[in-house]
Amino acid sequence: MTFNPLEQRGIPLDRQLRNWRELNVDPIDPDRCDPYTRCRVITMNGIEVEAILFSHQLARNTVDPEIKRQLARTRYIEAQQQKAVNWLLPGLSSVLETTIAYEQVAVDLTAWVARMEPDPYLKQAYQFGVLEDFDHLYRYANLYEMIEHRKAESIVDNLTEVMPGRPTRYHHRDPVDNVRDPYAKDQADPLSKLHALTIMSTEQQTMNFYMNTGPTYMEPIARQLYQEIGLIEEEHVTHYESLVDPGETWWEQLVNHEYNECYLYYSFMEQESDPKVKAVWELHLNMELEHLHIACDLMRRLDGREPAEVLAPALPNVLTFEPNKAYVRELLDTQMDLTTLGAGYVREAHERFEKMQETIHGGENPPSDRVMHEHDDMFGREYRVQTEGEHPDPAQREK
Ligand SMILES: [Fe+2]
Ligand SMILES: [Fe+2]
Ligand SMILES: [Fe+2]
Ligand SMILES: [Fe+2]
Repeated sequence: MTFNPLEQRGIPLDRQLRNWRELNVDPIDPDRCDPYTRCRVITMNGIEVEAILFSHQLARNTVDPEIKRQLARTRYIEAQQQKAVNWLLPGLSSVLETTIAYEQVAVDLTAWVARMEPDPYLKQAYQFGVLEDFDHLYRYANLYEMIEHRKAESIVDNLTEVMPGRPTRYHHRDPVDNVRDPYAKDQADPLSKLHALTIMSTEQQTMNFYMNTGPTYMEPIARQLYQEIGLIEEEHVTHYESLVDPGETWWEQLVNHEYNECYLYYSFMEQESDPKVKAVWELHLNMELEHLHIACDLMRRLDGREPAEVLAPALPNVLTFEPNKAYVRELLDTQMDLTTLGAGYVREAHERFEKMQETIHGGENPPSDRVMHEHDDMFGREYRVQTEGEHPDPAQREK
């Protein structure tokens, strides 16, 4: 593929503003849509929210009022894009249904990125993280059957399996052990930079979602499970954001953000099965091409550098939502017992990890274990979706 966003012109910024009628998108049909269409919508919402938040941080660190106004202009369009994208979600879904879709995104997006990541240290970071969101999916799916009396397979549609990953109780690490080493901006493959931004943004969206929606349930076990997993998403954001080289200048970071938006809209436009959603991806790609040009001009002006020096000569292979069952099973077989120590990984529980575990659990079972006991009391079994056979780890098979 030879799509080079630097050589394409998009829609001029002063023609990107949409009126209410244009913003009033038709939501997807939850019963008939491809689950991966919903995953693409969720991913792009996370990306647009990051675009907005990043631009706000940049504006707060910008003295020149003319540049502040330029950032505000583009940011308002990002805010309209976020509305158009997230309003594709149907109003019927419960918080827990959206949660299950978020964890499905985390599993299949992170697994795909892990498969494609060229740098071994970064690849390990994604392999490590995916086994945790995989376990969250399983805990929430059991909660869903308990309190909403429905089954998660109606959401994940057998594209993603539901069974134990690295047990959630072991995700609570001392915060210092969540900080990884960054890639080196001048040596890293441009694809690695896009991967890190993408996963950081979607994990950040999950963290924000649990922060705000967690207390909307009345059932004590639901409220407690959202607190527990909400704190793990804080760890995940720390883990993934620390992969990004903090030596990139603000303007270089802005260019990377806009380039990543082009990459993802282009990828999703290529694979989208719903024609109305595809039209949104295409429109937004044409907007992002112009955002990228504006960001490149700012980088040239304020850093005195050519953006082409830090970007790929053409877009990498499209990022794809597809089942990753065999890959996740291989990780379940080989990486269940990993934890982190400093910026690396170990198989042995160490002192700092044990201390955190002792303090946070306070001698009791965490909500992620209690949800399984309460589910078992009600149904006499667990809720799982194992389309490819038994769990690869004999210790995790249902008794
Ligand atoms: Fe955007
Ligand atoms: Fe998660
Ligand atoms: Fe996560
Ligand atoms: Fe943008």
